[in-house]
Amino acid sequence: MSLLYLDMVFSETLRMYPPAEYLHRITSETYNVPNSNLVIEEGTPVFISVRGLHYEPKYFLDPDKFDPERFNEENKRDRPAYVYLPFGEGPRTCIGIRLGLLEMKLALVKISSKFEVSPCEKTLIPMKLDSRGHLTTPLGG
Ligand code: HEM
Repeated sequence: MSLLYLDMVFSETLRMYPPAEYLHRITSETYNVPNSNLVIEEGTPVFISVRGLHYEPKYFLDPDKFDPERFNEENKRDRPAYVYLPFGEGPRTCIGIRLGLLEMKLALVKISSKFEVSPCEKTLIPMKLDSRGHLTTPLGG
């Protein structure tokens, strides 16, 4: 919990590569979208593009740049809620957030304390994602 910069690095990684690229909901009642003629009928499936939000320059300037500072306290405070959704939001949000983050941190600490990690000829720089993947997956496995 005290490794604040590591936390920022993981937050930025989950911004650029959210494992779940979209969330889905079904409307429980008919909804008029404010300031528009759009009416979403009750029972309509709605898909929310998590990756789309995470790359919206209005909220994440220069979105293709990996920058953990986006998640320092000041920058987090300045951003509206619900534009960063790697774990979803609301009553059906991920129940494993803390465990997930703890596992990721432990894995990184364990690996980097025993091994040196370097790119190989298969490492994708820049990263390319498989557009057919249900979850965020690098092209070529
Ligand atoms: C980095 C790791 C993880 C990520 C990025 C992640 C992401 C997500 C996302 C995006 C959702 C959908 C939330 C929504 O629709 O609003 C979800 C739901 C869920 N996650 Fe995770 N998750 C992670 C780790 C875990 C772990 C470790 C567990 C369990 C030990 C877990 C259990 C669940 C469950 C049970 C749900 C369904 C909750 C519901 O529908 O009420 N997740 N997760």
